[in-house]
Amino acid sequence: MRVAVIHGGTSSEHDVSVASGEGIADGLRRAGHDVVPVLVDRAGEWHTPYGAGRLVAVDTLLGCDVAVPALHGVLGEDGTVQGFLDVLGVRYVGSPVAASAVCLDKQLTKLVVAGAGVPVAPGVLVPVDRARAATCSAVELDRVAADLAAAGLVGPVFVKPVHGGSSIGVTRIATTGPPDLARALGAALEAGSDSVLVEAEVCGLEVDVPVLELPDGEVRCGPSLLVQSDPDEPFFTEAAKYASGATRFAVPAPLGTELTEHLERLAATAYRALGCRGLARVDFLVGSEGPVLNEVNTFPGFTPASQFPRMWAAAGIGYPALVDLLVRTAST
Ligand code: DAL
Ligand code: MG
Repeated sequence: MRVAVIHGGTSSEHDVSVASGEGIADGLRRAGHDVVPVLVDRAGEWHTPYGAGRLVAVDTLLGCDVAVPALHGVLGEDGTVQGFLDVLGVRYVGSPVAASAVCLDKQLTKLVVAGAGVPVAPGVLVPVDRARAATCSAVELDRVAADLAAAGLVGPVFVKPVHGGSSIGVTRIATTGPPDLARALGAALEAGSDSVLVEAEVCGLEVDVPVLELPDGEVRCGPSLLVQSDPDEPFFTEAAKYASGATRFAVPAPLGTELTEHLERLAATAYRALGCRGLARVDFLVGSEGPVLNEVNTFPGFTPASQFPRMWAAAGIGYPALVDLLVRTAST
């Protein structure tokens, strides 16, 4: 097949997407496909082997059998590029518009999966204007802290951009007292210019479950992965994800059959409730009161060293076979 691999993008995860796209392009070539790399630069300009510009990109995409939107974050993993491909009538790997948009919004994800019976951590959304005001005004900051306290969020909490990824702009604070809260809100706003989600910390294990849809329509969960993050980092930070040599992953996660099957059922329920297609990595935190869903990545990190391909490799599906399955499912 002739496959366009769209990568890069304007989000803060540009570099991760470039690495994902390069890995996918290489895997597809090894699986015998004809690859057309399409790079979206940080400014939003499109580059193809036939030249730059949106009209050239449209023409290039129309000449392909299937596209892989190997993009992470806003304007890529959030349904926008998926809608663009729908309008062009180009088939693509992964989730459609609505599922992509909901999954990139951590708050909407929680609302949808909780409605399907999947547990989530307690949290409060601070709208972007209010978060901005709280970083400038001590009075508004006190009001936000009081609202968080009323919802039982006094710390430790995680403060995150609601549309973020790769832990960029995420801070763990021990208490929601003014100086820490202002700093954490500021970091989240800087990363995303976005509403801010404040969530109760769930002490326990981070376990990721990969979901893959096969060309015959079967939705299958693969071996789960336990994240053993760099002990010198406060949580699974951007540095622990991409720069640390100390982060370890255990695949399959040594959790026992009962918990593993429970997580797989929750992952499949979330995948279906959200309307995902093709692939997803469903991330859980497993605390003393059982698992809560943390987030769903509709286009998870896909470098050869990333969790998703590693998990499938443990099930005997190597990188080229995995990307081949993705494009075959998308083209059926
Ligand atoms: N958002 C990054 C790419 C991930 O979840 O893997
Ligand atoms: Mg995650």
